Amino acid sequence: MEVIHTIKDLRDKLAKLKIQGKSVGLVPTMGALHEGHASLVKRSVTENDITVASVFVNPTQFNDKNDLVKYPRTLDADCVLLEANKATLVFAPSVLEMYPEPDQRQFSYPPLDVVMEGAFRPGHFNGVCQIVSKLFDVVEPNRAYFGEKDFQQLAIIREMVKQMNYPVEIVGCPIIRESDGLALSSRNARLSSQERENALKISDTLFKSRTFAATHTVSETLQFVEEAIKKAPGLDLEYFEIVDGYKLQRIESWDETPYAVGCITVFCGEIRLIDNIKYKEV
Ligand code: PAJ
Repeated sequence: MEVIHTIKDLRDKLAKLKIQGKSVGLVPTMGALHEGHASLVKRSVTENDITVASVFVNPTQFNDKNDLVKYPRTLDADCVLLEANKATLVFAPSVLEMYPEPDQRQFSYPPLDVVMEGAFRPGHFNGVCQIVSKLFDVVEPNRAYFGEKDFQQLAIIREMVKQMNYPVEIVGCPIIRESDGLALSSRNARLSSQERENALKISDTLFKSRTFAATHTVSETLQFVEEAIKKAPGLDLEYFEIVDGYKLQRIESWDETPYAVGCITVFCGEIRLIDNIKYKEV
Protein backbone atom coordinates (compact mmCIF):
# COMPACT_ATOMS: atom_id res chain seq x y z
CA MET A 1 0.00 0.00 0.00
CA GLU A 2 1.27 3.44 -0.90
CA VAL A 3 0.35 6.75 0.76
CA ILE A 4 0.09 9.65 -1.69
CA HIS A 5 -0.29 13.32 -0.78
CA THR A 6 -0.56 15.18 -4.09
CA ILE A 7 -3.00 15.12 -6.98
CA LYS A 8 -0.17 14.89 -9.49
CA ASP A 9 1.38 11.82 -7.86
CA LEU A 10 -2.01 10.15 -7.62
CA ARG A 11 -2.85 10.89 -11.26
CA ASP A 12 0.55 9.59 -12.44
CA LYS A 13 0.20 6.43 -10.40
CA LEU A 14 -3.37 5.76 -11.55
CA ALA A 15 -2.55 6.45 -15.20
CA LYS A 16 0.05 3.65 -15.12
CA LEU A 17 -2.38 1.23 -13.52
CA LYS A 18 -5.31 2.13 -15.78
CA ILE A 19 -3.22 1.61 -18.91
CA GLN A 20 -2.88 -1.99 -17.75
CA GLY A 21 -6.70 -2.15 -17.81
CA LYS A 22 -7.12 -2.18 -14.03
CA SER A 23 -10.49 -1.20 -12.56
CA VAL A 24 -10.53 1.36 -9.76
CA GLY A 25 -12.74 1.57 -6.67
CA LEU A 26 -12.79 4.77 -4.60
CA VAL A 27 -13.64 4.94 -0.90
CA PRO A 28 -13.87 8.59 0.22
CA THR A 29 -13.42 9.12 3.98
CA MET A 30 -12.52 11.76 6.51
CA GLY A 31 -10.33 9.34 8.47
CA ALA A 32 -10.64 8.25 12.11
CA LEU A 33 -11.44 4.97 10.46
CA HIS A 34 -13.43 2.14 11.99
CA GLU A 35 -15.09 -1.08 10.85
CA GLY A 36 -17.82 0.88 9.02
CA HIS A 37 -15.17 2.36 6.73
CA ALA A 38 -13.41 -1.01 6.57
CA SER A 39 -16.60 -2.60 5.20
CA LEU A 40 -16.53 -0.17 2.27
CA VAL A 41 -12.86 -0.92 1.59
CA LYS A 42 -13.47 -4.68 1.75
CA ARG A 43 -16.34 -4.41 -0.72
CA SER A 44 -14.23 -2.31 -3.08
CA VAL A 45 -11.34 -4.76 -2.89
CA THR A 46 -13.62 -7.63 -3.93
CA GLU A 47 -15.08 -5.66 -6.86
CA ASN A 48 -12.06 -3.78 -8.27
CA ASP A 49 -8.41 -4.41 -9.14
CA ILE A 50 -7.35 -1.29 -7.28
CA THR A 51 -8.84 0.43 -4.26
CA VAL A 52 -8.07 4.07 -3.51
CA ALA A 53 -9.11 5.25 -0.05
CA SER A 54 -9.03 9.00 0.50
CA VAL A 55 -8.48 10.42 3.96
CA PHE A 56 -9.30 14.12 4.06
CA VAL A 57 -11.13 16.16 6.67
CA ASN A 58 -12.98 18.37 4.23
CA PRO A 59 -13.34 21.89 5.69
CA THR A 60 -16.03 23.02 3.25
CA GLN A 61 -18.60 20.57 4.60
CA PHE A 62 -18.32 21.69 8.24
CA ASN A 63 -20.87 24.36 9.05
CA ASP A 64 -19.71 24.19 12.69
CA LYS A 65 -16.07 25.32 12.93
CA ASN A 66 -15.72 23.79 16.40
CA ASP A 67 -16.68 20.40 14.95
CA LEU A 68 -13.99 20.83 12.27
CA VAL A 69 -11.32 21.68 14.84
CA LYS A 70 -12.29 18.77 17.07
CA TYR A 71 -12.67 16.22 14.28
CA PRO A 72 -10.25 13.35 15.08
CA ARG A 73 -7.17 13.10 12.84
CA THR A 74 -5.42 9.73 13.06
CA LEU A 75 -3.67 9.12 9.73
CA ASP A 76 -1.13 6.59 11.05
CA ALA A 77 -3.80 4.39 12.61
CA ASP A 78 -5.98 4.85 9.51
CA CYS A 79 -3.16 3.53 7.31
CA VAL A 80 -2.84 0.45 9.54
CA LEU A 81 -6.56 -0.29 9.08
CA LEU A 82 -6.42 0.38 5.33
CA GLU A 83 -3.38 -1.84 4.84
CA ALA A 84 -5.01 -4.65 6.85
CA ASN A 85 -8.05 -4.37 4.56
CA LYS A 86 -5.92 -4.46 1.42
CA ALA A 87 -6.40 -0.94 0.05
CA THR A 88 -3.94 -0.28 -2.77
CA LEU A 89 -3.48 3.48 -2.40
CA VAL A 90 -4.22 6.02 0.31
CA PHE A 91 -4.77 9.58 -0.85
CA ALA A 92 -4.19 11.97 2.06
CA PRO A 93 -3.92 15.50 0.61
CA SER A 94 -3.53 18.82 2.43
CA VAL A 95 -6.32 21.40 2.43
CA LEU A 96 -4.27 23.58 0.07
CA GLU A 97 -3.81 20.66 -2.32
CA MET A 98 -7.58 20.15 -2.62
CA TYR A 99 -8.51 23.84 -2.42
CA PRO A 100 -5.72 25.96 -3.95
CA GLU A 101 -8.46 28.56 -4.39
CA PRO A 102 -11.75 28.79 -2.53
CA ASP A 103 -14.23 26.52 -4.27
CA GLN A 104 -16.93 28.78 -5.74
CA ARG A 105 -18.99 25.96 -7.20
CA GLN A 106 -22.53 25.60 -5.90
CA PHE A 107 -24.20 22.21 -5.90
CA SER A 108 -27.90 22.20 -5.33
CA TYR A 109 -30.16 19.17 -5.59
CA PRO A 110 -33.56 20.12 -4.28
CA PRO A 111 -35.63 18.64 -2.82
CA LEU A 112 -33.01 16.12 -1.62
CA ASP A 113 -30.59 18.57 -0.01
CA VAL A 114 -32.99 21.00 1.66
CA VAL A 115 -34.50 18.58 4.20
CA MET A 116 -33.09 16.94 7.35
CA GLU A 117 -29.26 17.35 7.40
CA GLY A 118 -29.59 19.96 4.65
CA ALA A 119 -31.94 22.04 6.81
CA PHE A 120 -29.89 21.72 10.01
CA ARG A 121 -26.42 21.96 8.45
CA PRO A 122 -26.57 24.78 5.88
CA GLY A 123 -23.91 24.36 3.20
CA HIS A 124 -22.96 20.87 4.37
CA PHE A 125 -24.00 18.99 1.24
CA ASN A 126 -22.56 21.69 -1.00
CA GLY A 127 -19.21 21.00 0.67
CA VAL A 128 -19.65 17.23 0.38
CA CYS A 129 -20.39 17.56 -3.35
CA GLN A 130 -17.41 19.90 -3.82
CA ILE A 131 -14.95 17.39 -2.41
CA VAL A 132 -16.55 14.25 -3.84
CA SER A 133 -16.70 15.78 -7.33
CA LYS A 134 -13.01 16.75 -7.04
CA LEU A 135 -12.17 13.19 -5.99
CA PHE A 136 -14.16 11.79 -8.92
CA ASP A 137 -12.33 14.16 -11.30
CA VAL A 138 -8.91 13.18 -9.96
CA VAL A 139 -9.40 9.42 -9.48
CA GLU A 140 -11.94 8.74 -12.25
CA PRO A 141 -13.05 5.58 -10.46
CA ASN A 142 -15.16 2.83 -12.00
CA ARG A 143 -17.02 2.49 -8.69
CA ALA A 144 -17.29 4.58 -5.53
CA TYR A 145 -18.43 3.29 -2.15
CA PHE A 146 -20.62 5.13 0.36
CA GLY A 147 -22.31 3.99 3.56
CA GLU A 148 -26.07 3.98 4.14
CA LYS A 149 -25.25 5.38 7.58
CA ASP A 150 -25.22 8.77 5.83
CA PHE A 151 -28.42 7.98 4.01
CA GLN A 152 -29.09 11.48 2.69
CA GLN A 153 -25.49 11.92 1.56
CA LEU A 154 -25.73 8.72 -0.49
CA ALA A 155 -28.96 9.89 -2.17
CA ILE A 156 -27.42 13.29 -3.01
CA ILE A 157 -24.22 11.75 -4.42
CA ARG A 158 -26.36 9.46 -6.62
CA GLU A 159 -28.24 12.54 -7.87
CA MET A 160 -25.01 14.48 -8.50
CA VAL A 161 -23.63 11.56 -10.53
CA LYS A 162 -26.83 11.41 -12.55
CA GLN A 163 -26.96 15.15 -13.23
CA MET A 164 -23.24 15.51 -14.00
CA ASN A 165 -23.05 12.29 -16.05
CA TYR A 166 -20.11 10.93 -14.07
CA PRO A 167 -19.19 7.49 -15.46
CA VAL A 168 -19.04 5.98 -11.99
CA GLU A 169 -21.18 3.34 -10.32
CA ILE A 170 -22.24 4.36 -6.82
CA VAL A 171 -22.32 1.42 -4.43
CA GLY A 172 -24.32 1.87 -1.23
CA CYS A 173 -23.15 -0.27 1.71
CA PRO A 174 -25.15 -1.27 4.82
CA ILE A 175 -24.66 0.36 8.24
CA ILE A 176 -22.12 -1.42 10.42
CA ARG A 177 -23.04 -1.41 14.12
CA GLU A 178 -21.39 -2.28 17.41
CA SER A 179 -22.60 -5.61 18.79
CA ASP A 180 -25.06 -3.72 21.03
CA GLY A 181 -26.53 -1.83 18.05
CA LEU A 182 -24.87 1.61 18.14
CA ALA A 183 -23.98 2.67 14.58
CA LEU A 184 -20.21 3.00 14.21
CA SER A 185 -19.11 6.60 13.81
CA SER A 186 -15.82 8.47 14.03
CA ARG A 187 -17.58 10.76 16.49
CA ASN A 188 -18.25 7.87 18.92
CA ALA A 189 -14.63 8.19 20.04
CA ARG A 190 -15.56 11.52 21.64
CA LEU A 191 -18.37 10.07 23.80
CA SER A 192 -17.73 9.64 27.54
CA SER A 193 -18.66 6.22 28.91
CA GLN A 194 -21.92 7.66 30.28
CA GLU A 195 -22.70 9.28 26.92
CA ARG A 196 -21.88 6.03 25.15
CA GLU A 197 -24.45 4.29 27.34
CA ASN A 198 -27.04 7.02 26.68
CA ALA A 199 -26.39 6.88 22.92
CA LEU A 200 -27.44 3.25 22.82
CA LYS A 201 -31.03 4.36 23.23
CA ILE A 202 -30.92 5.73 19.65
CA SER A 203 -30.46 2.41 17.82
CA ASP A 204 -32.49 0.63 20.47
CA THR A 205 -35.47 2.92 19.80
CA LEU A 206 -35.09 2.59 16.03
CA PHE A 207 -35.09 -1.22 16.22
CA LYS A 208 -38.15 -1.22 18.49
CA SER A 209 -39.88 1.21 16.17
CA ARG A 210 -39.57 -1.24 13.30
CA THR A 211 -41.67 -3.77 15.21
CA PHE A 212 -44.04 -0.99 16.29
CA ALA A 213 -44.41 0.26 12.70
CA ALA A 214 -45.69 -3.11 11.51
CA THR A 215 -48.99 -2.49 13.35
CA HIS A 216 -49.12 1.32 13.56
CA THR A 217 -49.42 4.35 11.30
CA VAL A 218 -46.58 6.61 10.20
CA SER A 219 -47.61 9.37 12.63
CA GLU A 220 -47.89 6.90 15.51
CA THR A 221 -44.42 5.61 14.69
CA LEU A 222 -43.04 9.16 14.58
CA GLN A 223 -44.54 9.80 17.99
CA PHE A 224 -43.20 6.49 19.36
CA VAL A 225 -39.62 7.42 18.44
CA GLU A 226 -39.86 11.09 19.44
CA GLU A 227 -41.26 10.27 22.88
CA ALA A 228 -38.70 7.54 23.56
CA ILE A 229 -35.77 9.82 22.68
CA LYS A 230 -37.18 12.84 24.49
CA LYS A 231 -37.49 10.94 27.73
CA ALA A 232 -34.10 9.24 27.43
CA PRO A 233 -31.46 10.75 29.72
CA GLY A 234 -28.69 12.79 28.09
CA LEU A 235 -30.21 12.81 24.60
CA ASP A 236 -31.52 15.83 22.74
CA LEU A 237 -33.52 15.05 19.59
CA GLU A 238 -32.78 17.32 16.63
CA TYR A 239 -35.15 15.60 14.21
CA PHE A 240 -36.72 12.30 13.35
CA GLU A 241 -38.41 11.95 9.98
CA ILE A 242 -39.95 9.06 8.09
CA VAL A 243 -39.28 9.66 4.41
CA ASP A 244 -39.49 8.12 0.98
CA GLY A 245 -36.05 6.56 0.53
CA TYR A 246 -35.65 8.01 -2.98
CA LYS A 247 -37.04 11.53 -2.72
CA LEU A 248 -36.31 12.00 1.00
CA GLN A 249 -39.67 13.70 1.44
CA ARG A 250 -41.89 12.97 4.43
CA ILE A 251 -44.56 10.35 3.94
CA GLU A 252 -47.88 10.29 5.69
CA SER A 253 -48.87 6.70 4.99
CA TRP A 254 -46.89 3.49 4.49
CA ASP A 255 -48.74 2.93 1.19
CA GLU A 256 -47.17 6.01 -0.38
CA THR A 257 -43.86 4.31 -1.14
CA PRO A 258 -42.23 0.89 -1.41
CA TYR A 259 -39.15 2.37 0.33
CA ALA A 260 -39.67 4.00 3.74
CA VAL A 261 -36.77 5.08 5.93
CA GLY A 262 -36.64 6.71 9.35
CA CYS A 263 -33.79 9.20 9.70
CA ILE A 264 -32.73 10.54 13.07
CA THR A 265 -30.25 13.05 14.46
CA VAL A 266 -29.65 13.29 18.17
CA PHE A 267 -27.24 15.28 20.30
CA CYS A 268 -25.61 13.15 22.94
CA GLY A 269 -23.98 15.84 25.06
CA GLU A 270 -21.97 17.87 22.53
CA ILE A 271 -21.77 15.05 20.02
CA ARG A 272 -24.16 14.98 17.11
CA LEU A 273 -25.05 11.42 16.09
CA ILE A 274 -27.04 10.25 13.09
CA ASP A 275 -28.68 6.93 12.36
CA ASN A 276 -31.48 5.50 10.23
CA ILE A 277 -33.65 2.46 9.81
CA LYS A 278 -35.56 0.97 6.89
CA TYR A 279 -39.24 0.28 7.53
CA LYS A 280 -40.01 -0.81 3.98
CA GLU A 281 -37.40 -1.86 1.48
CA VAL A 282 -37.45 -2.49 -2.24
P1 PAJ B 1 -16.91 9.78 6.81
O1 PAJ B 1 -17.84 10.23 7.85
O2 PAJ B 1 -15.49 9.49 7.17
O3 PAJ B 1 -17.51 8.49 6.14
C1 PAJ B 1 -16.89 7.90 5.02
C2 PAJ B 1 -17.83 6.83 4.50
O4 PAJ B 1 -17.99 5.82 5.48
C3 PAJ B 1 -19.24 7.40 4.21
O5 PAJ B 1 -19.70 6.87 2.98
C4 PAJ B 1 -20.05 6.89 5.38
O6 PAJ B 1 -21.42 6.73 5.09
C5 PAJ B 1 -19.37 5.56 5.65
N1 PAJ B 1 -19.65 5.10 7.02
C6 PAJ B 1 -19.44 5.78 8.17
N2 PAJ B 1 -19.88 5.07 9.24
C7 PAJ B 1 -20.39 3.91 8.73
C8 PAJ B 1 -21.02 2.77 9.30
N3 PAJ B 1 -21.21 2.66 10.61
N4 PAJ B 1 -21.42 1.78 8.47
C9 PAJ B 1 -21.25 1.89 7.12
N5 PAJ B 1 -20.66 2.95 6.52
C10 PAJ B 1 -20.25 3.94 7.30
O7 PAJ B 1 -19.01 10.71 4.89
C11 PAJ B 1 -17.92 11.30 4.90
O8 PAJ B 1 -16.85 10.87 5.62
C12 PAJ B 1 -17.66 12.54 4.08
O9 PAJ B 1 -18.84 13.29 3.97
C13 PAJ B 1 -17.09 12.23 2.68
C14 PAJ B 1 -18.06 11.44 1.80
C15 PAJ B 1 -15.76 11.48 2.79
C16 PAJ B 1 -16.80 13.58 1.95
O10 PAJ B 1 -15.91 14.35 2.68
